[in-house]
Amino acid sequence: MAAARPRGNIVAWLLLAVLVAAPLVLTQEVDTSGTFPKPYATSTPKTFADFSSEFTVFWGPEHISTTPDGQMLDLTLTNISGAGFNSKRTFIYGRINMNLKLIGGDSSGTVTTYYLTSFGDHHDELDFEFLGNQTGEPYILQTNVFANGKGEREQRIFLWFDPSSDFHSYSVLWNKKQIVFMVDGVPIRVFKNNEALGVPYLNKQPMGVYSSLWNGDSWATQGGLIKVNWTLAPFVATFQNYNYDACEWLTNTTVPACADPAAVNWWDAESYSELSQVQANELRKVQQYYMVYDYCTDSERFPVQPVECASNL
Ligand SMILES: *[C@@H]1O[C@H](CO)[C@@H](O)[C@H](O)[C@H]1NC(C)=O
Ligand SMILES: *[C@@H]1O[C@H](CO)[C@@H](O)[C@H](O)[C@H]1NC(C)=O
Ligand SMILES: *[C@@H]1O[C@H](CO)[C@@H](O)[C@H](O)[C@H]1NC(C)=O
Ligand SMILES: *[C@@H]1O[C@H](CO)[C@@H](O)[C@H](O)[C@H]1NC(C)=O
Repeated sequence: MAAARPRGNIVAWLLLAVLVAAPLVLTQEVDTSGTFPKPYATSTPKTFADFSSEFTVFWGPEHISTTPDGQMLDLTLTNISGAGFNSKRTFIYGRINMNLKLIGGDSSGTVTTYYLTSFGDHHDELDFEFLGNQTGEPYILQTNVFANGKGEREQRIFLWFDPSSDFHSYSVLWNKKQIVFMVDGVPIRVFKNNEALGVPYLNKQPMGVYSSLWNGDSWATQGGLIKVNWTLAPFVATFQNYNYDACEWLTNTTVPACADPAAVNWWDAESYSELSQVQANELRKVQQYYMVYDYCTDSERFPVQPVECASNL
């Protein structure tokens, strides 16, 4: 469950890598004026200072370190191991944010992940996966959505900045109506509640927050063609500004209580139930200029378009 991989064969992904090289327009401006209204950005960032009160390590403890002030956390990948950590708390609905600064230079074959997931046979999952690349070539940000145990909803975009030169914010707004993936507050993907169309929605169980750094060179960079250059190890990805304003799942929590549009559950207010016009325009721009793969338009994989596609624009 650590991270979702597209299932297609290598040839298909190679072909895709060739096809997607063409529409790359990294200079397009992205308007960031459509960020969600407050209290979207008001929660206090957690530091990593008291790591064990908020997080636990699930892989590679010797490859995780924090700065003395607790502001930053590094995950390190070598030929021996990568690493991963996760939140102790779990949530249902709200907003969850992490700022990431990715591996610079030649990051080929590396995969940095930040995702929410639940457990069990019917697990839900929301993925941000950053696929490294050769020096000067663009990272791909792959997102995926699992609902009731089923994923296969990959989308891939290039970013409008170099994600290794500075920290950028990656967050999820999650309520009973929609899930919005955001980069620096710009919506890059929406997954709406389409239960009316028979599509399962993520509204039955809480999810925890996970991050990891691992070797994905069998598939990640240019379809698996470009491998990790181990002479450049250790590879380091840095995390900062973890914060959430979300309904924490305690023994007495119920889903309806987290979906009740009371003042504390601001994410259930009408203004968060769908994108504003400005936000919808931003999303369209991302889809138009930065999207390099969309499961919704992959007719080889899905001769019949998945039902949610038509309404997730
Ligand atoms: C890992 O890298 C180190 C340093 O470059 C090298 O000495 C070692 O042989 C490598 N180990 C493996 C299993 O490749
Ligand atoms: C890496 O760069 C190549 C060439 O620009 C591009 O086709 C590919 O999509 C980029 N990203 C990844 C993860 O392969
Ligand atoms: C790996 O990195 C080393 C050190 O920068 C460089 O000399 C070598 O050409 C690189 N190998 C590949 C395959 O890019
Ligand atoms: C749930 O439990 C927490 C402490 O574990 C308590 O602070 C909170 O008031 C309880 N909520 C309800 C609705 O009972």
